[in-house]
Amino acid sequence: MNLTLKIWRQKNAKEKGQMVDYKIGGIEPDMSFLEMLDVLNNELVEKGDDPVAFDHDCREGICGMCSLFINGEAHGPDRGITTCQLHMRKFKDGDTIYIEPFRAKAFPVIKDLVVDRSSFDRIQHAGGFISVNTSGNTQDANNIPIKKHDADRAFDAATCIGCGACVASCKNSSAMLFVSAKVSQFALLPQGRVEATERVLNMVEAMDQEGFGNCTNTGACEVECPKGISLENIARMNREYLAASVK
Ligand code: SF4
Ligand code: FES
Repeated sequence: MNLTLKIWRQKNAKEKGQMVDYKIGGIEPDMSFLEMLDVLNNELVEKGDDPVAFDHDCREGICGMCSLFINGEAHGPDRGITTCQLHMRKFKDGDTIYIEPFRAKAFPVIKDLVVDRSSFDRIQHAGGFISVNTSGNTQDANNIPIKKHDADRAFDAATCIGCGACVASCKNSSAMLFVSAKVSQFALLPQGRVEATERVLNMVEAMDQEGFGNCTNTGACEVECPKGISLENIARMNREYLAASVK
């Protein structure tokens, strides 16, 4: 396949960026999107040009690092996958592909396609954990029976990989889907109830401080989420927050 790539290039957080055109050839349909960018970067390096900076780590849909906005969609045109799982067979010979970083005030660009998502880390630090005494007093997990329905819902919420596609897809740059997944994975389990009140209050406060927008129930986040995190988590977090606020 021969392609035209229009890629956001930005030297650093302070300088203005711009879209730059690249022609690329010899791309196989079975290559992943990131492998296609590797081919481009090899060519740029051979010419002595600066390679395109982009985030990646596991390249198998687990780590949540590969945060690209492709042809106007977070993680590109496929559903239920991350950018590293996107294959070039989704595109046609001769296509023009627009590649941009995830855009949000709370995700400032570091370089080219790499954004700073440490705001997510700070929200996690505010309450995305349970405090457990691990000094030999832990009980067997099977001592606490949990309804299958609740266990499944908690597990579904726990599959959020913190990629930020929900924020990038939202017209308000809201982080509600991410935060609600992190609240729900504990709220549904007895182990998570102990600190449930402080957790939801602290995580929502941290989310607001980071400059994420409000949720207006558009649902774009759910559509673009590679892990199928459901909007029902946002409804659950709102209930948790209301109950915690009146305590
Ligand atoms: S809710 Fe989905 S889109 Fe948002 S960070 Fe988690 S996995 Fe990514
Ligand atoms: S590189 Fe880890 S999810 Fe894509």
